[in-house]
Amino acid sequence: MDKICVITGATSGIGWEVAHQMAKKGYVLKVIGRSEQKGEDLKQSLLKQDAAVDFEYFVADLSSIKDVKAVAEKINASVDHIDALINNAGGVFSDFELTEDGVEKTMANNHLSYFVLTHALLNKLKAAEEGRILLVASRSHLRAGMDFESFTTKKNYNIMRAYAQSKLANVLFGYQLTRYLADTNISSFIIHPGVVKTPIGAKSKSWLHRTVWSLFARFMYNTTPEASAKNYVYLATEKEAKAHNGFYFSAGLIEKSSALSYDQKLQEKLWDWSELKAGVKWE
Ligand SMILES: NC(=O)c1ccc[n+]([C@@H]2O[C@H](COP(=O)([O-])OP(=O)(O)OC[C@H]3O[C@@H](n4cnc5c(N)ncnc54)[C@H](OP(=O)(O)O)[C@@H]3O)[C@@H](O)[C@H]2O)c1
Repeated sequence: MDKICVITGATSGIGWEVAHQMAKKGYVLKVIGRSEQKGEDLKQSLLKQDAAVDFEYFVADLSSIKDVKAVAEKINASVDHIDALINNAGGVFSDFELTEDGVEKTMANNHLSYFVLTHALLNKLKAAEEGRILLVASRSHLRAGMDFESFTTKKNYNIMRAYAQSKLANVLFGYQLTRYLADTNISSFIIHPGVVKTPIGAKSKSWLHRTVWSLFARFMYNTTPEASAKNYVYLATEKEAKAHNGFYFSAGLIEKSSALSYDQKLQEKLWDWSELKAGVKWE
């Protein structure tokens, strides 16, 4: 049976490397990205690595609930099972923006997309011999709180606060997801990839944010996309990784996440909010 991997955010940075490494392991790749051109660039690069690569690209803006649901439907129609779902796409937003769904863009892009996509692809993960789900969070969640009012209003908007909050949402979702998936064939993992030199901050609309980020990336990064991707691939593919189901990994090692992230009531509150906002119901 083919091994199939769905990955978001593979047109750049860490995800680009993850796609190449998963392809090297022989996985069929179903990649979701927002740019046709970047999808083509990725395809050409993968073909250069291995002319026999099995690759399909799906265009979607992951900050749109409608787009996430539509792309999941297309992927579901193209596979009979999914071995690994790598929720990796993420971004930072200089200015407050509301999506078409009325959600603050960072929360929509970085959290709701994981929530909706994972829910929509779950049956195919259950159909795999052993399903794996990766949720890429960030160490920045350690400083974050959860202010539900800010999910839909401009209240105290700040680029890094919004980013850290969305990454705390990834961790909260991850722990609740592990409980939800208990007694299934699916394992899930939460990842902080390290401080990785990628263009994530360079995509900010603000000149100031771009400059600060590039200085930070130049002096503070502690790992490369290639090295970081190896940790993803280990968790997504290796048999023994299953023993670490439900843990938070920081740069490849199990670590404790923030005290707040273990708050079960908060996890449930976020889950309920996400279900309501996204119009999905986990049975
Ligand atoms: N780099 C770090 O130090 C670091 C640290 C902690 C956590 N992380 C997390 O690691 C993950 C990967 O980040 P990275 O550093 O590799 O950044 P990156 O190079 O900017 O990659 C982000 C990927 O997500 C895609 N993406 C973002 N918003 C999207 C949307 N609305 N629809 C579709 N695709 C979208 C981007 O597409 P485009 O190519 O079209 O932009 C890109 O492929 C993110 O979740 C990030 O929060 C990174």
